[in-house]
Amino acid sequence: MPTASTATLRCGVIGVGKMGRHHARLWTQVAGCDLVGVVDSSAERRQQVIDQYGGRGHDSVEALIDAGVDLVTIATPTVHHREAAEKLLAAGVHCLIEKPLAPTQDEARAIADAAKRSGALLQVGHVVRYDPVMVAIRKLGLRPRFVEVDRVSPMTFRSVDVGVVLDMMIHDIDVLLMLFGAEPVDVRASSVSVLGEAEDVCNARLEFPRMADGYAPVANVTASRLAMKTERKIRVMSDDTYVSADFVDRKGTVARKGPNASKIAEVRELLKQGADLSHLNFLDLLQVEPLAVEPGEPLKLQAEDFVDAIRSGRRPLVDAEDGFAAVRTADRIVAAGRAAGSRMV
Ligand SMILES: NC(=O)c1ccc[n+]([C@@H]2O[C@H](COP(=O)([O-])OP(=O)(O)OC[C@H]3O[C@@H](n4cnc5c(N)ncnc54)[C@H](O)[C@@H]3O)[C@@H](O)[C@H]2O)c1
Repeated sequence: MPTASTATLRCGVIGVGKMGRHHARLWTQVAGCDLVGVVDSSAERRQQVIDQYGGRGHDSVEALIDAGVDLVTIATPTVHHREAAEKLLAAGVHCLIEKPLAPTQDEARAIADAAKRSGALLQVGHVVRYDPVMVAIRKLGLRPRFVEVDRVSPMTFRSVDVGVVLDMMIHDIDVLLMLFGAEPVDVRASSVSVLGEAEDVCNARLEFPRMADGYAPVANVTASRLAMKTERKIRVMSDDTYVSADFVDRKGTVARKGPNASKIAEVRELLKQGADLSHLNFLDLLQVEPLAVEPGEPLKLQAEDFVDAIRSGRRPLVDAEDGFAAVRTADRIVAAGRAAGSRMV
C-alpha cells in the first residue's frame, strides 16, 4: 500500500457508466493523481472512457490490481460493489465506493469488515456532504429540532437494482445521521411500488434521540423516482435558526431568531388579543439573509478530500461505518414502508 505522501497515486475506476465516467475524469484532474486503468463489463464503454481520459482498459478487477493501482472508485451497480470491494481491499487498494455502500446491511457489514482487515482506506460516496449548500448549512453549527428533505426526480431507469430508498433517499439518510449525530430511535414510513417489486416513492418520519431538554427531534424525508420534476430541498429548524435551501438552484435563506424576536413577540401578542392580521405579508415581517454558498463541484471536492485522507492517514469524512449506518437505517425505512406500503397498478 502506498504511504509516501508525495508519490503520484495510480487511480482506477470499476464501472464506467454514468457516474464512473465522472470519476475517471476526476482522476485526471485531481492534483497528484493519474488515471491508470478502468474496468467495465462492457468492452465498448471501457474503450470510450480510455479514448477520452487515457489509462488502460481491463476486463476484470484482478487484471487492474495486477497492473498496479493505489486507489479505485467503485461505480458499478450497487449489487456488484461487494465483489469488487473485497478483492481491492484484500490487495490493500484504497476504495471510494459510490453510494449506497451495499444493497443490504449484511453486505455493507462484510465490506466494512474487509476494510478493517485491510488497513487501506474506504470512503463511501455520500457526496451531498461535499455539496457547497450542505457545507454552508453545516457551517451554521445548528442543533436541529426538525428537518424536512425532499428529493424527487423523473424515472431514469438506472439503479433499478435497488428501491428509491437505497437509490435516492440514502443521500439524505446520510445527511440526517450526520446532522443529528445518531441513528433514529423510531422509524415510520409509507411507500408505494409502481414499476417493480421495490418501492418507487417513500415518505419516512424519523425520530432521533432526545435532546438535553427532553425534546425528541424529528426528520420528515421524502423521495420519489416517479416525479414530473427534479427537486432537491431541505429545511432545517433549530432553537434559534431556520434554514431553507435548494440544492438544484444552489441557494438558501437563513432566518435567525435574534433580529426577528421583537417582531414575532409583537405578532404573538396581537394574535393573543384576537387581532385580524390577514392584511400582513408574513415574508415582509421577517429579516432573512442569503445562505453563503461557495462555488465548487461536489464530486471533485470529495475526490480531493479522499486523496487528502490517504496522504495524511486520517479517517475519511464518510467511512465504512458511516456507510453501514446509512444502509442499516435505509433497511429500517424499507421494512417500515413495506409494512405500511401499497402497490399501484
Ligand atoms: N453519487 C451520486 O449522486 C450517484 C448518482 C447515481 C448513481 N450513483 C451510484 O453509482 C453507482 C453506478 O450507478 P450509475 O448510474 O453510474 O450506473 P450505470 O448503469 O450508468 O453504470 C454502471 C456501469 O457498471 C458496469 N458494470 C456492471 N456490472 C459490472 C461488473 N460486475 N464489473 C464491472 N463493470 C460492471 C456497466 O457496464 C456500466 O457501465 C451505483 O452504486 C449508484 O447507486 C451515485
